[in-house]
Amino acid sequence: MFAVKTVVLPGPDDLNEDKIDPMIDLSVEIDLLRRKRNAMILAHYYQSEEIQDLADFVGDSFDLSRRAMVADAEVIVFCGVRFMGEVAKIVNPSKTVLIPDADASCSLEESCRPEAFRLFRKKHPDHFAVTYINCSAEVKSISDVIVTSSNAEMILKQLPMNRPILFAPDRHLGNYLIKKSGRDITLWPGSCIVHEQFSERELVKLRIRHERALIVAHPECSEGILKYADHIGSTKSILDYVLASKAHEFIIATEPHIIHQMRKMAPNKVFIIALGMNGSCDCAKCPFMEKNTLSKIYLCLLNNAPRIELSEDLLQDALKPLQCMFDMSVNTNVSSNKS
Ligand code: 13P
Ligand code: SF4
Repeated sequence: MFAVKTVVLPGPDDLNEDKIDPMIDLSVEIDLLRRKRNAMILAHYYQSEEIQDLADFVGDSFDLSRRAMVADAEVIVFCGVRFMGEVAKIVNPSKTVLIPDADASCSLEESCRPEAFRLFRKKHPDHFAVTYINCSAEVKSISDVIVTSSNAEMILKQLPMNRPILFAPDRHLGNYLIKKSGRDITLWPGSCIVHEQFSERELVKLRIRHERALIVAHPECSEGILKYADHIGSTKSILDYVLASKAHEFIIATEPHIIHQMRKMAPNKVFIIALGMNGSCDCAKCPFMEKNTLSKIYLCLLNNAPRIELSEDLLQDALKPLQCMFDMSVNTNVSSNKS
């Protein structure tokens, strides 16, 4: 096994949350440290409103990876989940990549351990391994091409028709791709705990109550949700759709923190969060994304940890399928927001 993968944790003498002076203004202190350390803060749309507002760039997983690749700051603070920080390190290895919380995992990454994925590949030696970006650096390093929800369909179209495909780790996105492409795809049985919990029954009730509302959904949702959707796409594509649409009301079947950008950019439109099995929208919040806080961003900049460190071999091997993704996504423009 070549892969050496580490998140360097804060040391025993480093400042921790209990010791932060309660009188300081964290946003101001983060800004000072950001300048002092020549740092760039990248945030996913599922981060809290306050984190999105202080970030230099907010985006979906694909745009964020491209932003990380061209970042010229010395330090990248990645506010998302751990695999996103790993991607930043893989595509721009000379930078220091900090993540506010080393435990910010993802149920998809957890469902797909490298040893098990290696066996899966061995069982299907003729298959081309198309792997969703929501996985560890090790799983990436033994994949043929990485995709995100914004480019998976486009990349599948470019693969030779005579090659059967393995798709891991999200079975709902995989099923959606089978429907769209008609390809022979063997699926890994993983799922997102956030998108899987949306209830079809509650969605139908919401649609009856808001009969003019359009439904938008992330392809990590189950088929029972996707079949009602007027638009299916990545977080960025959902945002673009609601902004461009003439409709006034939308039911949002993805993590609700994205509504922050929707409200900022379209304050007169109405956004309704799709509900879970228990009739509540609380379980739609990603518990991994929610681990990041302003105090942890402040601390990681101060302590230079948690910090992503990957071995040279792992960096090189995981870059190959990511580079393949970038090469096959040449016609997509990087969106710009703040910077
Ligand atoms: P996006 O590619 O839309 O950013 O999705 C990432 C993610 O984790 C969805 O749950
Ligand atoms: Fe992973 Fe789902 Fe959270 Fe996205 S929303 S990071 S797929 S658990």
